[in-house]
Amino acid sequence: MSDLRVDAAGIQFQNPILLASGTAAFGRALAGVVDLDALGGIVTKAVSLEPRGGNAAPRVAEFTGGMLNAVGLANPGVEAVRRDDLPWLAATLKRARTVVNVVGNRTEDFAEVVRQLDGCANISAFELNVSCPNVRAGGIEFCADSASLTAVVSGARAVTRRAIFVKLSPVLPDIAEAASTAAAAGADGITVINTMPGLVIDVGTRRPRIGFGSGGASGPGLLPIGVLATHRVRQAVSLPIIGVGGVASALDALQYVIAGASLVAVGTANMRDPRAAERIVRDLARWCDMNGVTAIQDLVGTLEWPA
Ligand SMILES: Cc1cc2nc3c(=O)[nH]c(=O)nc-3n(C[C@H](O)[C@H](O)[C@H](O)COP(=O)(O)O)c2cc1C
Repeated sequence: MSDLRVDAAGIQFQNPILLASGTAAFGRALAGVVDLDALGGIVTKAVSLEPRGGNAAPRVAEFTGGMLNAVGLANPGVEAVRRDDLPWLAATLKRARTVVNVVGNRTEDFAEVVRQLDGCANISAFELNVSCPNVRAGGIEFCADSASLTAVVSGARAVTRRAIFVKLSPVLPDIAEAASTAAAAGADGITVINTMPGLVIDVGTRRPRIGFGSGGASGPGLLPIGVLATHRVRQAVSLPIIGVGGVASALDALQYVIAGASLVAVGTANMRDPRAAERIVRDLARWCDMNGVTAIQDLVGTLEWPA
């Protein structure tokens, strides 16, 4: 049997497959349907300082290449997550890891959320969602400005010894440079990619199909964009990478691994079929067995670029 274990940022994962942030909430709703403990781990919904109600319905719209969402980072806020959700995850997951996704309106919000959660049992890592707007900088994304990115990452670094992954947007002009900035500010890993801004129009009404207007595109159309981002980040930094975007099968996940991702997160596919991630773990093991790969870690970053 092939060895699916991976080491990333000093953490051992039993396999590389995670549930992507925002597509499995805090795991509870999936518990009766999916064996969460069969996965590498779960990345939680974004946690903010204050509760967020989210955007107007409808919040999602389908299109051929995937899905557009403007959920609006709805979450119960750090206090409720610390009290209700993280203890449930700690009691439920014995082998799968918990990664807590963190969001903020202002630079200092990220460190404050991390500080308030740092004492919770069983958090393996934080993932900073820096692809959200910085309200003090006129709504420009934190990761689009290197001074803000540095401030967010170094602020969080100062309040935790746990691993910090920094999640970047696919629309950055130079995603590798942003990854280098995050690394220099103390990140332990990089997650690529978040959703891609998009608009789906109802032709009959001439109105956007989702209540907020624009949203973030996810699903199969993101696969080659995320795989290229992974390859670029791999070349720029030596930190472990979580690859995410468009993964619906073991072969999709393997593309990320070969491009340089140690871990692969499944989002939209998991919303369509909650058992997708579990199936991908099984299919990965089968593929490795059939292809003489004794340890999946040996495949990470083995892309052969054309000469
Ligand atoms: C409904 C929904 C909610 C999401 N919420 C978050 C979030 O709270 N924080 C975050 O960093 N990314 C969030 N994402 C982005 C996903 O984690 C992932 O980066 C993106 O969807 C691409 O992966 P996929 O194509 O497998 O869905 C969300 C995506 C969707 C579809």
